[in-house]
Amino acid sequence: MPTETTLSSRLMPVPEAGRVLVFDSGMGGLTVAREIMARAPRVAVDYAADTGFFPYGDKSDAALRARLPEIAAQLVERAKPDVFVIACNTASTLALEEVRAQLDIPVVGTVPAIKPAVASTKTGVIGLLATPGTIRRDYTARLIDDFAQGVSVIMHGSIELVRLAEAHAAGEAHDAAGFGAAVQPIFEADGGDRVDTIVLACTHFPLVREQLVAASPRPVQFIDSGAAIARQTLRVLSRETEGRAPNDRPGGRVFLTSSLSQNRRLLSVCRTFGFPSAHDLMAEENAENRSASI
Ligand code: DGL
Repeated sequence: MPTETTLSSRLMPVPEAGRVLVFDSGMGGLTVAREIMARAPRVAVDYAADTGFFPYGDKSDAALRARLPEIAAQLVERAKPDVFVIACNTASTLALEEVRAQLDIPVVGTVPAIKPAVASTKTGVIGLLATPGTIRRDYTARLIDDFAQGVSVIMHGSIELVRLAEAHAAGEAHDAAGFGAAVQPIFEADGGDRVDTIVLACTHFPLVREQLVAASPRPVQFIDSGAAIARQTLRVLSRETEGRAPNDRPGGRVFLTSSLSQNRRLLSVCRTFGFPSAHDLMAEENAENRSASI
């Protein structure tokens, strides 16, 4: 019997045309971009990080709601993708509809992988590891109400793990005890002794999956939404680019919302994920405005 994954990848046409812009607050969306690139090497994939407002997970809902549609519009204007992917749970669970309303191209969002975790738990107790923002969202509560009936969900929000993931990905010195501090509250909560599955509901966290596995007091399954988002992005892109000739232009561009010199660490990680060409969105906007007004 083929598994669900092999069956769907066999049935799904792999697009060879079109451009995707993958967006996050920082490095986390790279874990989604790599899933897209692995499945569709001819598709042009660019990356955007809202480094000027990183991290999202400790920002107020109002501040993020005000920022996201505007930033998305500027990025799309600059990068001209066919599909915009919000590779960030914190942003998608708050403002996916607002971003959709702002853009005239399809937008794919990222939400916690509750459904697959519920399908795979044997004990009926799952953990949800996310940013504090994602944990407190009504959207997350609704996902749990709709898809986790009869299953206990133990939630823990950690902004430290976002920062730790970035430091680890960049090969910088960091406090490895932080990985244990991030997962332990799930195991130590009421019912935590029965957790068998943990949802990594922040796109940064797959960057440190191995460290989280090692820091867990016993083996559990870690699930994220990267592969599902990649499949959905490619389904949408196939529809958008039907009949178009294969790409002759590669992706590989990175757009940031703060100066490149402040983001050497992120840019070096982007290079290792296949994004060598960096652009400071704000500086370019300002330069354009200046030359327009001269
Ligand atoms: N990568 C983002 C997510 O999936 C959040 C990281 C942040 O707090 O900026 O939630």
